[in-house]
Amino acid sequence: MRTPFIAGNWKMNMSRAEATDFANALKEKYHDTDVRTAICAPFVHLELLKNIFEGTDIKVGAQNCHFEDSGAFTGEVSVPMLEELGIDYCIIGHSERREYNNETDETVNLKLKRLFASSILPILCVGENLDQRDAGKEKEIVEAQVKADLEGLTAENVSALTIAYEPIWAIGTGRTASPEQAEEMCAHIRDIISDLYGDAVACETTIQYGGSMKPGNATELMNMENIDGGLIGGASLKVDDFMGIINF
Ligand code: PGA
Repeated sequence: MRTPFIAGNWKMNMSRAEATDFANALKEKYHDTDVRTAICAPFVHLELLKNIFEGTDIKVGAQNCHFEDSGAFTGEVSVPMLEELGIDYCIIGHSERREYNNETDETVNLKLKRLFASSILPILCVGENLDQRDAGKEKEIVEAQVKADLEGLTAENVSALTIAYEPIWAIGTGRTASPEQAEEMCAHIRDIISDLYGDAVACETTIQYGGSMKPGNATELMNMENIDGGLIGGASLKVDDFMGIINF
């Protein structure tokens, strides 16, 4: 049995004061649960969150990293720097970074390899855009992303990996994929992993759905066989919404 994994993706939101209030409120409302929980925040809030969540099960994630350890990469943050803060997870390949920050399957792959040589676990994002879905190419697009992104990773790596299926047309649009559409793609991703690494590995990989997930639709999505969790954008900015999803 895979443990459900709910991760918030704050994107470029929250002032320091707002992040502090959110974290203290979440800590207060959070109770022992079988759900793995993380907040992926802007770099500048990571240390603050680690401090507030100390002694709880709430994990902290970054939203990107560089694949080199140090050097002339202005504006970048390396994996060893995140390790020094005790960061637990790092989102890689989010569609917004693929679109606005020139993230490619090649850099995604390098980042995954660097993270697997560290104590930080990656959350790899894949997903098709609306044109690709309308053209009936969504499975082929996601399959190509998964294969390119995982190139050279070991079975052990992929067992510990989280893949977030995020159809781009459902991100921040209020238009959620139906549970059946989400399940169909998450099952497809698990099949691809099974073909590459075998059934035992595919059974262990955590597959999240992301895209306008909220308390009102979390239960039906989470009840799907191949959906093990959610990567939550907008609904991770309000403690009650986020708790509502954790309590699906
Ligand atoms: P959303 O974002 O929940 O606001 O649609 C999800 C994501 O981009 O990770």
